[in-house]
Amino acid sequence: MTVSSELRDALCTEDLWRRMRKRVPPIVSEYFVGGADEEITLKGNVKAFQQTVLNVRGATRFETLDTSTTVLGHELAVPWYISPVGSLRTIYPKGDAVAARVAGNFGTVMGLSTLSGTRMEEVAAASSKQCWFQLYLCGGRDTALRAINRAKKAGFTALFLTIDTGVSGQRRVHERMKPLQALHPWEGLSGNERLQWILRRLQLAPQMSTRLPWLTDLLGDEGVMRFVNIIDDKGEPMPFTDIGSQLASSAVTWADFEWIREAWGRDRPIIIKGVHCADDAKRAEDVGANAVVWSNHGGRQMDRVPPTLHMVQSEMPKLSGSGLTFLMDGGIRCGTDILIAMSHGIQAVGIGRAMVAGLGAGGEAGLTRSFEILREGLERGMRLTGVGSVDEIRSMGADLRCECLLQGDSHLPPFVY
Ligand SMILES: Cc1cc2nc3c(=O)[nH]c(=O)nc-3n(C[C@H](O)[C@H](O)[C@H](O)COP(=O)(O)O)c2cc1C
Repeated sequence: MTVSSELRDALCTEDLWRRMRKRVPPIVSEYFVGGADEEITLKGNVKAFQQTVLNVRGATRFETLDTSTTVLGHELAVPWYISPVGSLRTIYPKGDAVAARVAGNFGTVMGLSTLSGTRMEEVAAASSKQCWFQLYLCGGRDTALRAINRAKKAGFTALFLTIDTGVSGQRRVHERMKPLQALHPWEGLSGNERLQWILRRLQLAPQMSTRLPWLTDLLGDEGVMRFVNIIDDKGEPMPFTDIGSQLASSAVTWADFEWIREAWGRDRPIIIKGVHCADDAKRAEDVGANAVVWSNHGGRQMDRVPPTLHMVQSEMPKLSGSGLTFLMDGGIRCGTDILIAMSHGIQAVGIGRAMVAGLGAGGEAGLTRSFEILREGLERGMRLTGVGSVDEIRSMGADLRCECLLQGDSHLPPFVY
């Protein structure tokens, strides 16, 4: 089967995820796959959606459906946006710009990570819609201020501030693969280290030799990426390095919010990402944020925290008088998941791994297929449950769901991603 027919024939994002893992070598793909520790939260994010069941209203027919939503004054044609994911350039050439183009084609927003390998100006230019920039304080305050000013100039229209990365979570499978060791240059190594270096390359040969198109793409795309949106005071981009220690030395606190708000501009939207509880959401509103993302970072940070959908269920009702816009991400793999999220009053959902699945499976064609699958699934779900618009899903709320009487989880599909 050819690559393009495999993409065309994908019926669910899991099909694309498998294709991504076939194309991208494990030493790279495991970075995108992994959750923290025992991956309990990663799996919980997915399961929480699968455990929700829906009420159907029959004998309904819609000539057209309205899947649009409004987030912070932005009109989105579909109720999702691309959640910021670092290092996309390692899975596909200029992956961030490709993702921005596809997001624009679907009438939605690209969220660009600080830890991206494509220049933010190029990413913004690739999209016909808005892009939002996600800020980490890697490199310190001056570096962050440079990034904020560049993002404003490049036309980014909102800023994500991610608050759940005081240190990096432990992603064991990938860490055991020692990916950074594999990138160590030959120069400067002692005799014994050189032997280790050669052995390491020999170990990697089988996964590379079966994934030559990925390797050719990488070499044709300037090789190992650099963090071109983290520029130091000498004008140099940060090398592809141990990001865990970078995050630990630059953890954001509420006290940073004031200067970030000032630098970004008081009239421009700020979104706090990685909120778990109503108290933090209130805090975010108090310091002047416009929106929060209920998120546990796709189960990659603290393991054994609640699935995001459970946070939404337990915490959002405590914020009934709030002026915040509510977004969420984590575990969204199909259109029905999006429908369920909307029924909880969420304004739009962030797509992380389902975007990686498409992009890694086949760049623009792969991501386009992933988004088609989400849109088709959402529209099918709307027609089958009898709701004509995203606004109607939100206003029906709990009436659209019913109690699941199945015990245990043996009725759920095995965990895939
Ligand atoms: C490989 C990977 C890298 C990520 N990098 C970032 C990042 O740089 N900044 C950030 O705020 N969130 C980052 N996230 C978290 C996502 O924005 C999002 O919260 C998460 O992927 C949602 O869960 P899902 O993958 O189940 O959709 C990353 C997630 C993954 C899987």
